[in-house]
This record gives sequence, structure tokens and C-alpha cells, in this order.
Amino acid sequence: MLEKIEKLEAEIKEAISKITDLKSAEELRIKYFSKKGEFTRLFDEFRNLPKEEKPKIGQLLNKVKNELNEIFKNKQAQLKAEKAESENYIDLTLPGKKRELGSYHLLTQTLREIKGIFGKLGFSIHEGPELESDYYNFEALNFPPDHPARDMQDTFFINDKFLLRTHTSPVQARLMQSRDLPIRAIIPGKVYRNEAISAKSYCLFHQVEGLYIDTDVTFAELVGTLVSFAREFFGEDVKYRFRPSFFPFTEPSAEVDIWWEPSGKEGRWLEILGCGMVDPNVLEFNGIDSEKYTGYAFGLGIERMTMLKYGIDDIRVFFDNDKRFLEQF
Ligand code: DAH
Repeated sequence: MLEKIEKLEAEIKEAISKITDLKSAEELRIKYFSKKGEFTRLFDEFRNLPKEEKPKIGQLLNKVKNELNEIFKNKQAQLKAEKAESENYIDLTLPGKKRELGSYHLLTQTLREIKGIFGKLGFSIHEGPELESDYYNFEALNFPPDHPARDMQDTFFINDKFLLRTHTSPVQARLMQSRDLPIRAIIPGKVYRNEAISAKSYCLFHQVEGLYIDTDVTFAELVGTLVSFAREFFGEDVKYRFRPSFFPFTEPSAEVDIWWEPSGKEGRWLEILGCGMVDPNVLEFNGIDSEKYTGYAFGLGIERMTMLKYGIDDIRVFFDNDKRFLEQF
């Protein structure tokens, strides 16, 4: 009996020292200390011992049992504490969590800048619908039905009458028809073209239209306004040129190019906008007396302006929403 007690004592001590979690501690408790456990069985054997041996063995058994219980309880408490600590553990040496700050999309930044510059020149801001009628997009701007100039703009038609506007110019007609003269407005917005997507063109882009109608508006004023705009946007030393062009709704018409010389590459002229004096036909069509009033208009592409200013050579990056691109600005 003595031997058995010693053997079991050693076995239990060793087992306790080996447990590493609360689950195995519970398994150990059941195996040795529960009612059917091995230690309890020793007590059963003890009951059958001859009377003379009982006091000595009994004392020993109780002593060992208390001792083992103590060791086990300590181990269990230690495991519990370790578990709690690991669950609440805060590693104060870890770097802090970075809060990411959003920023305005580069096109929004450009648009704000453009609005700011024309704002200072006395232009107010207007908007119009992206789903537009053929009437405003073409007819009211002197593109008669079947006129070849309609082919200049690949159009997404919704049906015979409606389309996604191909330019912001239809809002010119809308403003003229409101007959709130004089008009000195810029009209920013999205426009759509059914073009093959490439580094140079996308099915959607942004324009800012400008319209100034009053008595005695001259081409010289148009030039002055656009030159001050280009100087403010691209810098005082910007190199520009006005080149004759054609648009159905302006006469005469011009395009403005600016000189672009990316470092290490050969420079060239790049078109940034179309402009001209509002065609008297357009004034009359939209209810304005062309004997009394004259006006100028212009339309510029926001993507194109942004690409030039920041040296970006692929229009698609504006629409990919790749944070690695956007975060640079
Ligand atoms: N709407 C023209 C386009 O998208 C651009 C344009 C040219 C607008 C001349 C104007 C203008 O207001 O006068 O191609």
C-alpha cells in the first residue's frame, strides 16, 4: 500500500507539472481526484486494510491528498491568471494605429481651382442635366438634323430624342432661354462620348463651359479672359496660342493650345479648349436679340488640364480609383 501511494503521488505530481491549459487541468482532476478517480480508489483499498495499519496509512493518505490538492489548485490558478492576462494583453510597444485621412480627387481639386479663378473674374456657377435632349445638345446649338458636325461627337443615344450629353454646351442654350441677361457663367459637369477607351480618351470626362452674353462683348475680351485664366492656372510664363477652328455654335471659333514640354521629351502644342463668339443664329434661336447682344463661349476639358499640369499621360488613371495614384495629390 505504501508503495502504491508513493507511486501515485509521483505520477500525479509529474502530470500536474506537465499541464499547460485549463482543459487538460480539468481532465487531470477527473482522472485522479473525482469520485471515480484513481486517488479515490486508494481510499477504497484503505478501507479493507487490517485495523492496525489503518492509522498510519490513513494519515499518510490524507497528507498526500492535501498536498496534491494544494499543488493542483495552485497550478489551476496560475493557468487561469495566464489566460486572463493573454486575453487582456495590451502590447504598449506596438506602433499606434494610423488613421487614414481622405483627400479630394485630383479632378475635384482641379475643378475647384478653375471655379476659384473664374469666380474672381465674376463668373457664377450653373449646372445642367447629364441626360439631355437632342434639342439642347445639338439643335439649339445650331447643329441641324443630319448636319455632319454631329459626327464630331460620338453620341450615346438613349432613344431618338434623348442622349447622354456629349458636351456641357447645351447648358448655354438653357441659360439663354432663361433670358436672365447679362449672363456670365461657368458650367462644370460630366460629359459622355461613345469612343474607344485608350490612354487619350475615355467614355466619360469633365468639362467646364463658359458663357458671357451682354451688350458689346468682344473677341478681345474673350482672349483677355482666357489668357488670364491660363496664366493663373499654369503659371505666368505659360506659352499659348489661339488657332482658328470651327464649331457650329460660335463664329468666329478658335482653339487654344499651350506649349507642353515634359522633362527629357520634345515639346509640342496641346489643345486645352475650344472657344468663340456665340453665333448670332444661336442667340436668335434661343430668344436673344442678336442686334443688341453679343457673347463669347468656351469649353475646356478638366482631365486634359489636369494631365498637363501634373504631367499625367493616361486619362484612365482618373477613373481607376487606385489609391496609390490618388494619394499622391
Ligand atoms: N463643346 C465643344 C466640345 O465639346 C467645346 C466648345 C467649343 C465649347 C467652343 C464652347 C465653344 O463653348 O465656344 O467639343
